[in-house]
Amino acid sequence: MATIDTYRPEDERQIAAMYRRVFGNDAAEGNRLRWDWQYRRNPNCPPEGPTIWVAREGPTIIGQYAAMPVRVSVQGREIYGSWGMDVMVAPERQRQGLGEVLFRTWEQNVGAALGLGLSESSYRLFQKMRWPNVGPVPCFVKPLTRRALRRPNWPMPINRFVSWATLPLVRLVARARPLRAGVSRVGRFGDEFTALWERLAPKFALAVRRDARYLNWKFCEAPHVRYNAVALKRGEQTQGYAVYRHLQEARGRVTLLVDFLADPDDASGIETLLGWVDREAKAENSDKIRAFCLHGAVGRALKHAGYFHVKSTMEFTAKINAVEVPPSFYQDTSGWHVTLGDSDQDR
Ligand SMILES: CC(C)(COP(=O)(O)OP(=O)(O)OC[C@H]1O[C@@H](n2cnc3c(N)ncnc32)[C@H](O)[C@@H]1OP(=O)(O)O)[C@@H](O)C(=O)NCCC(=O)NCCS
Repeated sequence: MATIDTYRPEDERQIAAMYRRVFGNDAAEGNRLRWDWQYRRNPNCPPEGPTIWVAREGPTIIGQYAAMPVRVSVQGREIYGSWGMDVMVAPERQRQGLGEVLFRTWEQNVGAALGLGLSESSYRLFQKMRWPNVGPVPCFVKPLTRRALRRPNWPMPINRFVSWATLPLVRLVARARPLRAGVSRVGRFGDEFTALWERLAPKFALAVRRDARYLNWKFCEAPHVRYNAVALKRGEQTQGYAVYRHLQEARGRVTLLVDFLADPDDASGIETLLGWVDREAKAENSDKIRAFCLHGAVGRALKHAGYFHVKSTMEFTAKINAVEVPPSFYQDTSGWHVTLGDSDQDR
């Protein structure tokens, strides 16, 4: 019979070995690089240490549930929540009920339990446990060049034909548009971003608190990727931000619009941030820009700016325990703000 308790520093080697067996060498290497930042340096990490539950059988570790604590604004009230991540059960012990025990232990200890980018097995387990299924988080892509619509699984002649046939449309959506407000680069997020969050939080039915401490940790101190950040400015006031990065994928170069915040009613401000990211993406020779966004009004602004809604694989589940919410809360997620920058999705 397994016992569940919390992580101890001496567990590190056993957990790393299990991680390698469950997720493979590359993922384990990435996890090793991120671990200290992701768990210990999170500004929401409790004084007693990272929120990780471990399943033990005698001296042997057979499962873990690691979580990223965050503060979450739910219908204007701030509660403690956490993103579940790096959940695993040793391969020979899977499908014997241990995963469910770990999931429940986590959920009983947090005010808002959030899961993003679920694997097939965890998605099925959440379904079996009858959790609200509020995903997937919609994915939007804006093509910038003729290579944008290439697919790694298509033969090259088909890719060439699609590139040729869609070029006029790509040119139309990728055309430059004027910026209607000021945009300035951000090295570190200052107090003005905390003030921005305080002003905007009531506008979202659900969103992780994006104050300066969180933003600096998440986007300025991450050891595994380098982000660019810009602020939307009108006069002296900061009215939004965008965080993005560029990378090479199998069939082309992509700019990821990782995270952003602006008043969802400020269509022209959002358009300005998107226009800036367009310019940066083009300067970096990106073939497309990709964004994930749950909020209805922001999704409409993305479409207006030339983004297309494409199939998303970013499954999402959420369960609010600390405050009473009606069932309709989970049915209409158009006021929820969730992006690729949430949880540990951008690895
Ligand atoms: C997700 C995981 C932790 C679940 O642990 P577990 O001990 O196997 O889960 P339980 O035995 O409590 O629950 C079993 C249920 O989970 C789901 N499930 C587990 N493994 C599954 C798989 N390979 N395919 C589909 N569903 C699966 C099913 O709903 C299953 O119910 P069933 O056996 O009646 O069909 C475990 O499968 C695992 O380590 N997976 C690999 C790592 C992973 O994907 N982590 C999640 C990252 S988001």
